[in-house]
Amino acid sequence: MDRVVSGIRPTGYLHLGNYFGALRNFIKMQEENECFFFIADYHSLTTHPTPQDLHTNVKNILVEYIAAGLDPEKATIYVQSDVPQVCELSLLLSMNVYVGELQRVASFKEKVRRQPDNVNAGLLTYPVLMAADILLHRADKVPVGKDQEQHLELTRDFAQRFNRIYKNEYFKLPVAYNFGSELVKIPGLDGSTKMSKSDNENSCIYLADSPEVIRKKVMKAVSDSGPAAPGEPKSQAVENLFQLMRAVSSPDTVQYFEDQYQSCSIRYGDMKKQLAADIIAFNSPVFERIQELRSMDDYISKVARQGAEKARESAERTIRDIRSIIGIKQF
Ligand code: TYM
Repeated sequence: MDRVVSGIRPTGYLHLGNYFGALRNFIKMQEENECFFFIADYHSLTTHPTPQDLHTNVKNILVEYIAAGLDPEKATIYVQSDVPQVCELSLLLSMNVYVGELQRVASFKEKVRRQPDNVNAGLLTYPVLMAADILLHRADKVPVGKDQEQHLELTRDFAQRFNRIYKNEYFKLPVAYNFGSELVKIPGLDGSTKMSKSDNENSCIYLADSPEVIRKKVMKAVSDSGPAAPGEPKSQAVENLFQLMRAVSSPDTVQYFEDQYQSCSIRYGDMKKQLAADIIAFNSPVFERIQELRSMDDYISKVARQGAEKARESAERTIRDIRSIIGIKQF
C-alpha cells in the first residue's frame, strides 16, 4: 500500500482549482492507500491572518474536505499545527538546505515581487516545511496541482541529500501525483491561467458558492469577440472556458462547443450558460453538504482530534528514527 500525503493552506474557501488539482485526487486515493491529508495552517501564517480568521479558515477547510467526500474512517485528516513534530523535522532538514537554492524557488521569487514589504523568513523556508510535511509520513505519492511541482522536486532533493549524508535509504523519494494523468492547472474566469484567490475573487468558483453565485460569476467571465475565421487560435480567456468545461462537462458537450467555435458560429452566452449549469450540477451535492456540516461542530472537532492522534503516532515514529540516524541520543 502506498503512503499518500498532501495538504491545502487555509486561506479562505476552497475553489475549483484546489478541487481538481488536489482534493479530487485525495478522495480517489483514500480508497486504496494509507493517506494523510492535512490543513497547512503553519504555511498560511506567511500572510499574517488574524487569529479569528485563521481559526475560521481551518474549520471551513475541514468542513469542505468532508463535504467533498474525504472519509475520516479511511484517511487521516488533521490540522498541521496539531502535529508539531513537523517543526522539528523541518529544522533538522534545514541544516542541509542552502539559502541560495531557496532564493531561486519560483514561488519565493513571485512572493518577493508581489509583496515586497513582507518578505519574511517563513516564505524562504516554506519548501523545507513542505518537505517535512511529506517526509514526516514517508510518503510515496503527493497529489498536487501543477504549481506545486517544483516544491516536490525540492522535497526529493532534500530527502536524497539526507539519505546520502547519513548513508542510508530512510526516505523514499515522493512524486507529485495526479490520478491517471499529468498534473493539472485550472484557469481563472478572468482570463488568467491559474484560478487563484490572490488574483481576483471573481475569477474563482468556490465549493461554498451557491448556484446563483456560480451562475453570476460564470456569466461575467472574460471572453472575446469571437473567431473571425475558421481555425483561428483561441484567446487565453476562451481557452480557459474550454478548459473549465473539460473539467466539469461531458465530452459531447465540449465537442459541441468546439465545433461551434471552429465554424465561427459560437455564442459565448450559450456556452457560459451550459458551463454554469454543469458546474452547478457537479457542485450542488458538495454545496449542500457544506451547509449541513457547518453546524456540526462536535463532529468536526472529533474528526480533527482523531486525525491528530493518528498523525502524531506516524510522526513520532519518523522523528524517533531520524534523531537516532542523526546521532541525537538520550542519556
Ligand atoms: P495551496 O493551498 O496553494 O493549494 C492547495 C492545492 O490546490 C492546488 N491548486 C491548483 N491546482 C490546479 N489548478 C489551480 N488553479 C490550483 N490552485 C491550487 C495546489 O497545487 C495544491 O495541490 N504548498 C501547498 C500546501 C502544502 C502542501 C504540503 C501540499 C503545504 N505542505 C505538503 C502537499 C504536500 C500550497 O500552498 O497549496
